[in-house]
Amino acid sequence: MSEIVVIAVDGPAASGKGTLARRIAAELGYAYLDTGLLYRAIGLELLRDGEDPADAETAAAHAVAFDAATTDFDDPVLRDEETTRAAGIVAANSQVREALVEVQRRFAAAPPGGAPGAVLDGRDIGTVICPEADHKIFVDADIQVRADRRVKELQDRGVESIPSRVLQDMKERDERDRTRSVAPLAPAADASVIDTTNLNADAAFAEAMSIIR
Ligand code: CDP
Repeated sequence: MSEIVVIAVDGPAASGKGTLARRIAAELGYAYLDTGLLYRAIGLELLRDGEDPADAETAAAHAVAFDAATTDFDDPVLRDEETTRAAGIVAANSQVREALVEVQRRFAAAPPGGAPGAVLDGRDIGTVICPEADHKIFVDADIQVRADRRVKELQDRGVESIPSRVLQDMKERDERDRTRSVAPLAPAADASVIDTTNLNADAAFAEAMSIIR
C-alpha cells in the first residue's frame, strides 16, 4: 500500500473547490492538481485547431495524444467562457475521460517534487479516479451564489461578462456534468459535504482541515 496521502476535492463549477484544494495542499505541503485544466486544455486545443468539441472521435484523438508536459496550464485563455464551454462538452466524452485517467492516477500515486501527498480537485476524483483516497470532500453551493462568484472572478481578471449568461452557462454545464452517463458529478458515498453558500474561503478551509485532521 502506498504511503502517499491522497485528498479528493470534488464539486460543481465555482463552488470554491479550487481555492480550497489549493489551500489544503499549501497547508500540508502536498502537490496540487486542478484536473479541470486537463479538460480545458483539450477543449482549447480543439478550438484552436478549428474543430468542433462535440466531434467525439476528434476530441478522443486529441485526448489520447495529449501531453501535459508541453501544455501551458497558466495560459489565461484556459479560463475563458468559450474554453469553459468546450471543456464541459469534451468532459462528457467517455473516450476523453478514459485517456485522462492515467495521468491523474500517476499524479496521485507519485506526486511531483516528492511531496508526501496529493490534492486533486475535479468532479470524479473521489468516485472514479481515486476511490481509495484517504479523504474525500465534496464542495457545493447554491447556483446563484456560484454564478455571482464566477462573474466576480471574471471581473477581477478584467473580463467583461453578462451575469444572466454566466448563470445560464453554469446551469447547462451543471446539468451536463450531473446527468452524463460517464463519471457524473456526485458526492462519493463516503465524502464529507461542505456547503459554501454562506461560508467564506477561510471558514470553508477551517471546516475542511477539521475533517482532515
Ligand atoms: O471551476 P469550473 O467548474 O468552472 O471548471 P473546472 O473545474 O476547470 O472544470 C471544467 C469542466 O471540466 C467542467 O465543466 C467539467 O465538465 C469538466 N471536469 C470533469 O468532468 N471532471 C473533472 N475531474 C474536472 C473537470
